[in-house]
Amino acid sequence: MFSIIEERAEDQDDVLQLARLSLGNRLTDSPAARMRARTGPVPGLSMIVLENDQLVGTIRYWPMLIGPGTKAIQLGPVAIHPDHRGRGFARMLIRYSLDRAQALGHRLVVLIGDHALYQRYGFEPALPHGIVLPEVEDRDRLQILALTSGALDGLSGAVRGDTIPSLPDRRLLA
Ligand SMILES: CC(C)(COP(=O)(O)OP(=O)(O)OC[C@H]1O[C@@H](n2cnc3c(N)ncnc32)[C@H](O)[C@@H]1OP(=O)(O)O)[C@@H](O)C(=O)NCCC(=O)NCCS
Repeated sequence: MFSIIEERAEDQDDVLQLARLSLGNRLTDSPAARMRARTGPVPGLSMIVLENDQLVGTIRYWPMLIGPGTKAIQLGPVAIHPDHRGRGFARMLIRYSLDRAQALGHRLVVLIGDHALYQRYGFEPALPHGIVLPEVEDRDRLQILALTSGALDGLSGAVRGDTIPSLPDRRLLA
């Protein structure tokens, strides 16, 4: 029996451990990690999968800006424990949290990842829109999703981490 719930304060150590296990160095040393270096997770969108009270999946989002100041959120990391991959947990976490993000009024989601993995959720390559990472590394892997129609119209520029105050959890950046 599994459940998907919002991450609680007591889950933070397990979330960090699962993210480290799943991503290794890329958790802290990657363009995606650098974009979340000056902020905390977006409130209300950090979700976990629990099975028999064990943490088996995590997803978080981070505040971003595109171009001069268009607000967006960065999806990631999403990580599922190796023993529980291929069971649809990532798909459920991503779909549920994106629905929640839309309901909370977020308009744009970006991530750095494989198009093959994320196109099923509606993400498209950002580069053809002129939306780019400041760093060359991973530039081709930047994906974007508009949660409201028209959110991408006329939008271009570099993505960067926002610094708006958020939950006080900076340990994923340690
Ligand atoms: C990537 C990851 C989150 C997928 O988790 P998962 O629970 O096994 O994925 P699901 O079972 O929900 O699969 C969802 C869909 O993605 C597909 N998929 C899974 N891994 C994939 C991959 N590496 N590339 C392409 N498609 C993939 C599945 O076939 C499935 O497709 P379907 O919807 O057509 O059936 C998991 O393998 C993981 O934690 N990897 C290490 C961390 C990582 O790389 N995270 C992503 C970058 S932050």
